[in-house]
Formats: sequence, structure tokens, C-alpha cells
Amino acid sequence: MSDYRRITIASAGQHTGEPVEIAGWLYNLRKSGKIIFPIIRDGSGTIQCVGVKAQLPEDVFEALKNLTQESSVIIRGRMRAEARAQGGYEMDIEGAEIVQRVSEEHPYPITPKEHGVEFLFDQRHLHLRSRRQHAILKIRHEIIKAVRDYFDSNGFTLVDCPIFTPAACEGTTTLFEVDYFEDEKVYLTQSGQLYNEATAAAFGKSYCFGPTFRAEKSKTRRHLTEFWMVEPEMAYADLEDVKRVAEELIVFMVGRVLENRKTELATLERDITKLEAIKAPFPRISYDEAVEILKRKGSEIEWGGDFGGTDETLLSEEFDRPVMVDRYPAAVKAFYFQPAPERPEVALGVDVLASEGYGEVIGGGQRVHDYDLLLQRIKDHNLPPEAFQWYLDLRRFGSVPHAGFGMGIERAVSWICGLEHIRETIAFPRMLYRTRP
Ligand code: 4AD
Ligand code: MG
Repeated sequence: MSDYRRITIASAGQHTGEPVEIAGWLYNLRKSGKIIFPIIRDGSGTIQCVGVKAQLPEDVFEALKNLTQESSVIIRGRMRAEARAQGGYEMDIEGAEIVQRVSEEHPYPITPKEHGVEFLFDQRHLHLRSRRQHAILKIRHEIIKAVRDYFDSNGFTLVDCPIFTPAACEGTTTLFEVDYFEDEKVYLTQSGQLYNEATAAAFGKSYCFGPTFRAEKSKTRRHLTEFWMVEPEMAYADLEDVKRVAEELIVFMVGRVLENRKTELATLERDITKLEAIKAPFPRISYDEAVEILKRKGSEIEWGGDFGGTDETLLSEEFDRPVMVDRYPAAVKAFYFQPAPERPEVALGVDVLASEGYGEVIGGGQRVHDYDLLLQRIKDHNLPPEAFQWYLDLRRFGSVPHAGFGMGIERAVSWICGLEHIRETIAFPRMLYRTRP
């Protein structure tokens, strides 16, 4: 059997006619008398194989014919171009080895029939093998790779931030508290930003990329309690720099997915003309203008209020590409935002709302760089100044205007894949009512 070279299904086209083997799992099986058509997946793709009774040892034919869904199997044979096949190739079977046969008594629980969402997410450890989930996580991988490539090739240094933190970054209402040693309390990080501000002063431009946590009590299609965020931070930078970098990042990332993940987008039946429209420049509007648009569209919003999910959807439906909304009322934003010099009641912050009603994917802006003002803001927000001494220090030793943002990876994946709900964007989602498996 060593004559058969192990290949991946994705590379089938480079090995037509050669003796090869693929190692995978039985995805589906069709039979028609003396011919069987096992569909095999190996993680790189799926392929239909063809087994003809007259050309195979009887035991091999029978074993394949009675194989159960998701049994692990190695198939040996030859690849052949087949225009009608999904992926363009079929494999003619010459031999097979069953690695583990799934028993009939305890069959694979996910069948081609429709299952409820709760059931599928209870079976998430298996659900990930389905074609749709596979496509989504491949696109997630592509997005993460693109994000890293973008920052790495634009002068940013990756400096990751701690997960156990002594203080809140994004308000005290969504903090997860953890018992540390000897009665000390710490919190799971909501954002690496405060630490990024320290690393930006050391590296000029830095970013972190890691898990962040929010005790979000809301059950929405956009909120996870644990999500991954990429956060760049730049010294000697302002709100306009944030908008420029955010726009470049999104255009680059969407371009990469269109370039490399056409098959997966097709599996998801994504309308790619919507993605192709995502080009610079993105429309830029102020919070004031956004409120006007929303009122016109029948929203109850009044100046001073934060946008709800519905408002974000209404706004982003106005444009065929992401829209940048800046200068929110300082009162609805976190303590660290720099006030606009000419109009201190608004913050130099920006949210990027994705197109097609997906809402906020990026939030960021310019930080307070004056020591006294920052101390005042910390007090105004009833935050404990002791916990922020190191952060205040950054305003003592060579403080400069600086700015940055955070992009939620799952929000980006949800939007680019065109999903109904954020829970599909991560292998094992954590939400208000879901911490398992
Ligand atoms: O707007 P947020 O709260 O901003 C920050 O955390 C800043 N400190 C980031 C920075 O400037 N370095 O969160 C940033 C992004 C949001 O735009 C959204 O994409 C995502 O993080 N996000 C969530 N994603 C999934 N589930 C949640 N509960 C999220 N909360 C925020
Ligand atoms: Mg935000």
C-alpha cells in the first residue's frame, strides 16, 4: 500500500491519475446497486469517491457499502477530473482501510435533516465538521491572517496584553470578576487598550490581539461574553489617523477574503457583490448627522443618547459600504476619550458601522493625553484612581496625542460571511446562556 502517496483533497487536481490516498471521514454515502459513492471529507475539502463492486476485493466493497456516517477511513485510488463534481474531481477507489467505524447503536447525532439551533450548539464539538461551519471558520482564519498581515506590514509591533486586570476599561457594568489569591479580586479584560497605550509609547505603533470578556446580559445576535479583539494603538496620532487605518484594514481584509475564500463564500451563498462594493473612501458622518438620519427614518433617538442595535442597523442600511460615525456625546463614551477642543461635550471617538445592517465592527478614537484632565475623567466616572496610577504615569513621562481602535473579530466574520447570528463565527461560543461544550 506504500505505493499510494498521502495527499489532501484540496490538492486532488495536482495528482490526477497517480496512486494516492486520502485520510478522512465519511461525510455521506450514496449507493446504487453495484456502485457506491462515498463522500469523504479530510478537513481540506470534500470529494466524491466511486467504488465499483467488480473492481474491488469483496470485503473492501462490503465494508465501504455499510460504512456509517463520520467513520474514519483511508481511501486509496486515483483522482480524475469530473466537470460535474463539486470541486471538479472524483476519486476512483482501489482500496480502503476503515480506521474507526461509528457504531449503529450510537450513530452520529447530526444527520442531513434539519436540526434546531440549540441541539446543534449542544453538539458543537461535532457540528464543526459540517460544511457550513467549516466554511465560516476558514473565512475566520483568513480574516485573522489578513489582519495580522496588515498590521505587521504597516509598522505595528504585536505586544499582547494581560487577561487578568486590576481595573475596568469599558465601564464597570460588564466586568467579570475573578477570585485571585489571598482575597485579591481581578477582572477578565474587556480590552487591551490601556496597556496598548503603554506599548505604543514604547514602540510607536503596537497592536494586541486576544480574547476579551464582557458580562453582557443582553441576548442579541451581536454579543458574545468572550470574543477576540484586535486593537492597534498609535503614538503621535489623532482621530483622523484612526479612520484612515480602520478603512485601510477593512478594505484589505475584505479583499483577502474575496481573493482566497471564493469557495467558502459560495458554500455560504454569500452575495459577493455586496463585498466587492467595500472600497475606500467610506462615508464619514458625525453623530449629529447620524441622529438627523435616524429621526428621519423614524427612530426615537434624541441627541445625547447612545445608538441601540436597531439604530445602528437603520444607519448602516443607508450606505453600500461601512460608514464612520464620529464625535459622539462624551457622556455616552468611556472615560479615556479626548474631548473635541472646540466642543468638549463631544468625544473624539469613531464607530465604524458595517454595511447591510450589521452594525458596529470597530470602535476607537483619540485618548486624553493631559494628566489633570485624565484624572478628572477617572473621578467623574467613579473609577478608583489608585488602580490607574500606572496609566496616569503615561501622561507624566512624554505624553503625546495618541489614538487607536478595537475591531471585534466575530463581528467582522459575521458581516463578511453574511450570518444571522454571531454564535457561528467562533468554534465554541460563550454567551449569556451558553458556556458548553
Ligand atoms: O467599542 P468597544 O467597546 O471598544 C473598546 O473596547 C476599545 N477599548 C477598543 C480600543 O479602542 N482599543 O469594542 C470594540 C469592538 C466593537 O466595535 C465590536 O466589534 C467588538 O469590539 N465588541 C464585541 N463583539 C462581540 N461581542 C461583544 N459583546 C462585543 N463588545 C464589543
Ligand atoms: Mg463601541
